[in-house]
Amino acid sequence: MSKAIRIDRHGGPEELKIVDVEVGEPGAGEIRIRHRAVGLNFIDTYQRSGLYPFKMPLLLGMEAAGVVEAVGEGVTHLQVGDRAAYASQPPGAYTELRVMPAVNVCKLPDAISFETGAAMMLKGLTAQYLLKKTLPVEGLQKGDFILFHAAAGGVGLIACQWAKALGLQLIGTAGSDTKCQLALEHGAAHAINYSRENFAERVREITGGQGVKVVYDSVGKDTFESSIDSLRPFGLLAIFGNGSGPVPPVDLGLLARKGSLYVTRPTLFTHMSSRASTQAMADDLFAVVQSGAVEIPIDQRYKLEDVQQAHRDLEARKTTGCTILTLD
Ligand SMILES: NC(=O)c1ccc[n+]([C@@H]2O[C@H](COP(=O)([O-])OP(=O)(O)OC[C@H]3O[C@@H](n4cnc5c(N)ncnc54)[C@H](OP(=O)(O)O)[C@@H]3O)[C@@H](O)[C@H]2O)c1
Repeated sequence: MSKAIRIDRHGGPEELKIVDVEVGEPGAGEIRIRHRAVGLNFIDTYQRSGLYPFKMPLLLGMEAAGVVEAVGEGVTHLQVGDRAAYASQPPGAYTELRVMPAVNVCKLPDAISFETGAAMMLKGLTAQYLLKKTLPVEGLQKGDFILFHAAAGGVGLIACQWAKALGLQLIGTAGSDTKCQLALEHGAAHAINYSRENFAERVREITGGQGVKVVYDSVGKDTFESSIDSLRPFGLLAIFGNGSGPVPPVDLGLLARKGSLYVTRPTLFTHMSSRASTQAMADDLFAVVQSGAVEIPIDQRYKLEDVQQAHRDLEARKTTGCTILTLD
């Protein structure tokens, strides 16, 4: 048996219920893992609210770290006793113990703690594919400006550090002066408080009127138009989240009028569709964390049973950096 967080219908944080679930043996391609820490992600709120609809009942959670307890047929990259961490479909990580597909589960290097592993897999692998694989047609060169929204959040603070390590000048946006300061402390070259400043105008000032080659936008509805206005010709808008709500349908003519722009709507799990691609991305993340160039900031910890409060705080923009759920 395991404690788990389940919803029986989509709705607010009050729908998150703690229940006991039975955990069986892993089938082919699966493992059983005992979690030591669980990661909290904004996507969990979309799955809870119904923005991303699921069949009910649903166990939530997409990220965790722990110890492999049992291995199903055909799994060769993990053994019983291995320390492991993952970002993975299907949801179900808000548990002590679970059976799950092994394809996205990676061995966790000894130098990386369970808490760090739980905090960084989904958010760090997202920063990885954004900065390394979601690129404008002209590519990114050292010294280039990029615009990254919600820069003081979980994905954001990792991206600030990683972009700096790559020699990029990340212009970060955030909703308060304190959060802007945090982004600067984590390597952003510039920070804009988009709750009181017009960020497209500020981006033009910072870039000498040129605009940026790429905008990484996880805020969505509220930032879309000004993100477009922050791009230089042939620039790329990568919309990878819906923090303020999804972007409504777009008139494609806008992209022509604003300078032959590109728009993409990527998701981590397209990039992690195979064992090989998952491991390659994880190796890159493990290396940058072990080098010290990227530190994983765990700014909030909640007990599993306090997950309702964790969701409230995340949606109320009260959190910074990464958040984990702890298990006794
Ligand atoms: N497509 C993918 O592959 C992928 C993978 C991982 C994450 N994501 C997306 O990346 C984003 C960041 O994820 P995360 O888990 O690291 O979360 P997070 O950045 O720690 O939290 C979300 C942040 O969004 C900002 N925000 C702006 N408008 C908001 C609003 N109306 N309501 C709530 N927040 C708002 C807030 O920062 P400010 O107060 O500074 O504005 C808030 O702290 C999310 O949108 C998530 O869905 C996408």
